[in-house]
Amino acid sequence: MMNLVPLWCLVSIFIPAFITYDAAGCACLCFICSEVLLENKYMEVWINGLILIMFSIGHAELWITFLNRTHALPVHEPSLKKTRHITYVMLLGFPIVLFVAVGLYSPGVLRGGEWSQLAFWWKPVLILCSLGFLGFLVSVFRHLVYRVPRRQSESHSEMIDIRERLGHELIGDGPYHYLAGLPFNEIFSVEFSHKTFVMDRLPTAWEGLKILHLSDLHFSGTLTRDYFCELCRIGRESKPDLIIFSGDLVDQMHCLDWLDETLGQLEAPLGRYFILGNHDWNQLSEQIRTSLSGLGWIDVSSQTIQLEHAGHSLLIAGTEVPWMGQHPELPAQVGEESADFQLLVSHTPDNYYWACSQGYDLVLAGHTHGGQVRLPFIGPVFAPSVHGTRYTSGTFYRKSTLMHVSRGVSGIHPLRFLCRPEFSLLTLLTGR
Ligand SMILES: [Fe+2]
Repeated sequence: MMNLVPLWCLVSIFIPAFITYDAAGCACLCFICSEVLLENKYMEVWINGLILIMFSIGHAELWITFLNRTHALPVHEPSLKKTRHITYVMLLGFPIVLFVAVGLYSPGVLRGGEWSQLAFWWKPVLILCSLGFLGFLVSVFRHLVYRVPRRQSESHSEMIDIRERLGHELIGDGPYHYLAGLPFNEIFSVEFSHKTFVMDRLPTAWEGLKILHLSDLHFSGTLTRDYFCELCRIGRESKPDLIIFSGDLVDQMHCLDWLDETLGQLEAPLGRYFILGNHDWNQLSEQIRTSLSGLGWIDVSSQTIQLEHAGHSLLIAGTEVPWMGQHPELPAQVGEESADFQLLVSHTPDNYYWACSQGYDLVLAGHTHGGQVRLPFIGPVFAPSVHGTRYTSGTFYRKSTLMHVSRGVSGIHPLRFLCRPEFSLLTLLTGR
């Protein structure tokens, strides 16, 4: 009977740790339980339990790494959905098997068994889990040490509760609508972020140029049209010089009717430019493209557009790689004079290294939604990127190219935790 005491203690540590991946909460529980266990001289069982938890976390990290990378590839939604379901089963199933098989049965390390008696076929599995755990530690460390680059000289935000502002319900009958009303869901609490970037090559005449960056609207009927109308109204009132939409517009084609009252209402003297995203690729993308172009928005996918402003040239390029089209060719690559300032709109931040190699000054991206759910201390877990959670949101600077990754406004799953929806007004300064 006494043997069950440490086991129950370990289970009580494991369940919250696994479900939330909250290492801080887990550490507190571990501390409390360790006091009890030490008093009862069950130190060895306690350590073995911790080792099993680490293997479980490492295993989860490997599957999440796999899931994040597959979602960065041009794979259609039905196949991705199967991948997600397999991953969820593995995430829940493996720790149970591990605790029962290794912890209780053979060699039963939670019941006084020795690790040396572990069956040989468990060894490669647990070595892989150890590597996964190391990867997990690296991800957490990278999240904790992330600092906004100095090129972002200023930042402040307006928190806007759209539901409170409009005073009525904004949940429709679209996919996963039951998630929208969950407690602590921040889906209606939108952050209108104002960020100032210092850009080396910005012409002096453009000092203070304002760009409204919108991304990932995901019209599906889950959040009603009013939600997006209000966001666009706020965006219009901010009086930007230029508007950029970086993809993922529609998840249900019948919502295309909303365009006129939403993006159609936005105006900017230097124009409105867009690309599409992977969710548009899963719909009738050409129809979406035509509809938005019909409202005066300029499609920059796979091409470059050059305009003159205050005596200087601005190049706006777009890429929907890896889902549609190809990377645009810069004028310098076809023997023409390069522009004074080069802006790339890319749906995924995965094109950042390519953009750096091409000498773009500014990249505006979305797609990763900031991870949508962020855990205290650990940060984002799911991010459809070949870089995992590295570029889920924020500002990055590398090789004289600055990238802004928006958390986006919505998502097919209307769920946000410690990761508010975002749209941004970006002000560019010369810094001279
Ligand atoms: Fe998206």
